[in-house]
Amino acid sequence: MKRSSIIYVPLLFSFLTTIAFSFFYYYQIQQDNEEIAEAVSSDTSPPDYHFALIGEELDHDYWRLVGKGAKQSETEQEVFVEYGGPQRSNPEEQLRLLDKAIQSKVDGIIIQALNEEFTPLIDQAVGQDIPVMTIDTDSTESSRSAYIGTDNYSAGQLAGEALVADTGGEAIIGIVTGRFNNAHHSLRVEGFRSVVGQKEGIDIVAIEESSIDRIRAEEKAYNMLTNHQEITALYGTSSLDGIGISEAAESLNRQDDLYVITFDTLEENLQLLEQGKIDALVEQQPWEMGHRSVELMIDILNNKQVEEIHHTDSSIIRKRDLPYRNALTGEGH
Ligand code: BGC
Repeated sequence: MKRSSIIYVPLLFSFLTTIAFSFFYYYQIQQDNEEIAEAVSSDTSPPDYHFALIGEELDHDYWRLVGKGAKQSETEQEVFVEYGGPQRSNPEEQLRLLDKAIQSKVDGIIIQALNEEFTPLIDQAVGQDIPVMTIDTDSTESSRSAYIGTDNYSAGQLAGEALVADTGGEAIIGIVTGRFNNAHHSLRVEGFRSVVGQKEGIDIVAIEESSIDRIRAEEKAYNMLTNHQEITALYGTSSLDGIGISEAAESLNRQDDLYVITFDTLEENLQLLEQGKIDALVEQQPWEMGHRSVELMIDILNNKQVEEIHHTDSSIIRKRDLPYRNALTGEGH
C-alpha cells in the first residue's frame, strides 16, 4: 500500500464518521425538541383540587376497592386524590397522616374516623378551612361536612336477622369484633344485639377483639370455641374475622356444625362461602364509597347543598345467591 493511502484512508474514515454522528445527533435533538413542544402544548394544566383520602390499611382488598373508586373519580374530574393509609391497621399512624394532610393544606380530606381521637384533628382541619368528609366510619361528634358509607347499625341488624332466619332462632353466639373502641364495629355489634337480644332461644356468651388481624381473629375464635363448647354460631364484624373463624373451626373440627356470619365480600370470603365454611356475608360497597366521596367533596368545595349522611347499600349474601351475584358484578366492583 502507498504511503499516502496509509494516511488518507483513516482520515477519510474519521471524516465520514464525524459526518454520520453529526447527522445522528441533529436528528436526535430535533426529535427531543418535538417531544418537548408536544408536552408543552398538550393539556398539562394542574387539577383544580388536591384531596387526601386516608383509609385504615393499604394492604387490604376492601381498602384497595375504596382507593380504586376514588381513582376512578380522578379520571372523571379535575382532581388529584392522594390515597394513603398505614400498610397494616394502625390508628396512631392514621392520625399522623391526618395531621400531615392538614399541614400540607390540601383542599379537602376524606378519612375513616375510627374513634373519638380523630375528632380534635378533624375539627382542627375544618378550623383551617379544609373541609372533611368521613368514609366507612363516621365521627358524628366532629365538625365534618358529611359521611359516606354503610349504615353500620342497620348492617348489624341485617346480620342479626340473617342469623335468626338461618338458625331458626336457636343459637349460642360468640362475637369476634375489630376493636371495641371503633365506632363502626360497636355499631355493628349494637345493631346485631338489638335483633338477637329479642329472641328467647339466642344467647351471646362471649365477645373478643381481633384488632383487624386474621391471625388474632383465629386465636380469639379458637379460644372462644374451646372455652365455650356450647357455642353454635360465630359473628365477625370485620373483613378478616370470618377467615380467622373458619380456620379455628377447621382446626377444632367444628366446620360442619358451626354457623358463621361475617362482613365483606372479599375474594377469600366468597370462596369460603362457596365451600360452605362461611354461611352468610354482609356485603358493603367500598368502591362506591371511594368514588362518591370525591364527587361529594367537589360539591362541598363548590358550595353546593350536600346532605350530611350518604348511606351506601348493604345486603346479605348466602351461597345460594352466588350465581346471581356473579352474573351481576362487573370487574373492579
Ligand atoms: C370495615 C373496614 C375495615 C375492614 C377491616 C370492614 O368491614 O368496614 O372499616 O377496615 O373491615 O377488615
